[in-house]
Amino acid sequence: MFMDKKSWKESKAELQRIVLPPDTNVLNGLYGGRLVEWIDNLASIVAFKHALGPAVTGSIDDLYFVSPINLGDIVLMQGRINHVTRTTMEIEVNVFAEDFHSGIPRFATEAYLTYVAIDANRKPKEVPGLLLETEDDRRRFAEGEKRSNLRKERLKGIREESKKFIQCEWESTS
Ligand SMILES: CC(C)(COP(=O)(O)OP(=O)(O)OC[C@H]1O[C@@H](n2cnc3c(N)ncnc32)[C@H](O)[C@@H]1OP(=O)(O)O)[C@@H](O)C(=O)NCCC(=O)NCCS
Repeated sequence: MFMDKKSWKESKAELQRIVLPPDTNVLNGLYGGRLVEWIDNLASIVAFKHALGPAVTGSIDDLYFVSPINLGDIVLMQGRINHVTRTTMEIEVNVFAEDFHSGIPRFATEAYLTYVAIDANRKPKEVPGLLLETEDDRRRFAEGEKRSNLRKERLKGIREESKKFIQCEWESTS
């Protein structure tokens, strides 16, 4: 089916949160799992908007937390689509944290997530192409293409490996 290409601007999204006590770890910093949840939530909004329908998280690339996010900080997350294949979308999320006393945002982490668009039967579904209007769009797409190829290789390996686990062999030692 022919679908019009879409600009990344049609699906970009932003999310802000203030870090509250239920979001923190024992050091009063933002709990990593909570941040991953927020990142996944934002990125799925971008994916749904591009696909004009539901999509599932396929993978999240390596995540490095480069500066701590503290209780009371304002967390700003910006998400955009970089790359598409027939049924997948790569979403980039950049995360900044801001101490409201200083108002100065600091970079906290970046994430690349892959979503697979699905139909009513939960089968992968074609997504619109991506309009590449600027040099930056083309650079992001080319870099996304390299990451996508690496993920496909990794997925192939994982699927091969997972055949070993069809029968659960985890036995109690007691
Ligand atoms: C993702 C899912 C729909 C793919 O279904 P499938 O029938 O195995 O799909 P296919 O092997 O035909 O792959 C379809 C496309 O998705 C990509 N893909 C499949 N699984 C992927 C994964 N885990 N990560 C990234 N890409 C993936 C394939 O490379 C292929 O890309 P293409 O359009 O460029 O060819 C299915 O594996 C699934 O439902 N997984 C669970 C997702 C989920 O529950 N996520 C929530 C978090 S746990």
